[in-house]
Amino acid sequence: MPRLPVALIPYLAAFALIVGGYLWYAGDVTSGLAHQRPVNLGGPFTLVDQYGHSRTDEDFRGRFMLIYFGYSMCPDVCPTELGKMADAIAELGPRAKRVVPVFITVDPQRDTPPHLKDYVSEFGSQFVGLTGTLDQIKSVAKEYNVYFRKRPLGDGNYGMDHTSTIYLIGPNGKLANVYTEGTNPDDIANDLKKRL
Ligand code: NI
Repeated sequence: MPRLPVALIPYLAAFALIVGGYLWYAGDVTSGLAHQRPVNLGGPFTLVDQYGHSRTDEDFRGRFMLIYFGYSMCPDVCPTELGKMADAIAELGPRAKRVVPVFITVDPQRDTPPHLKDYVSEFGSQFVGLTGTLDQIKSVAKEYNVYFRKRPLGDGNYGMDHTSTIYLIGPNGKLANVYTEGTNPDDIANDLKKRL
C-alpha cells in the first residue's frame, strides 16, 4: 500500500471532521428528544436585549434557559417553536420562574431591540429577545452550531434559512438537552419538571 503524502493528511482529517459532524447532525435531527446530548455546544455571549440592555450568559446562572435562534419575520417555523416554548413553560406552574425563554435573532439587521420587544411580547412577558452586531450573532451561533443564511425572496426582501433547535441550558451555564422540531410542548415540560 503506498504511503499517503504527508501534505494530504490535514485535508483528510478535515474531511473526516466534516462528514462526522454531518452524521452527528443528521442523527440529532431525526431523533426527536436527543438521546445523546452534544455536551460541547453553547458558550459565553454578550448581546443586547429588547430593552437595549447589554446581557451576557452569566446573567442567567441559577436558572434554566430555553434558547431558540430565529428571526421575527419568519413566517411559520419560528412562531411555532417559540409558541412551543411558551406552552411548555406554562405547564410548569410556579416552577416556571426558574426557566427563562430566550430568543436570539439571526437577523440583527432588521431585529433591532424595539422590534424584538414587540415580537417576543407576543409569546409572553417572560421572554428575553437578544440581538447584537452581526459578528456577535455569528459568534454565538457558531458556539451552538447554528447555521443561518440570507435567502433573497426576489422582491428585494429576504428570508433567513436557519437551524431550528431549542437548547436547554442548565443553571450552571452548561448545555442540558436539545429539543428538535418533532418535540412537543408536553415532552419539553416533562423533561423540565424532572430537572426543576
Ligand atoms: Ni424561522
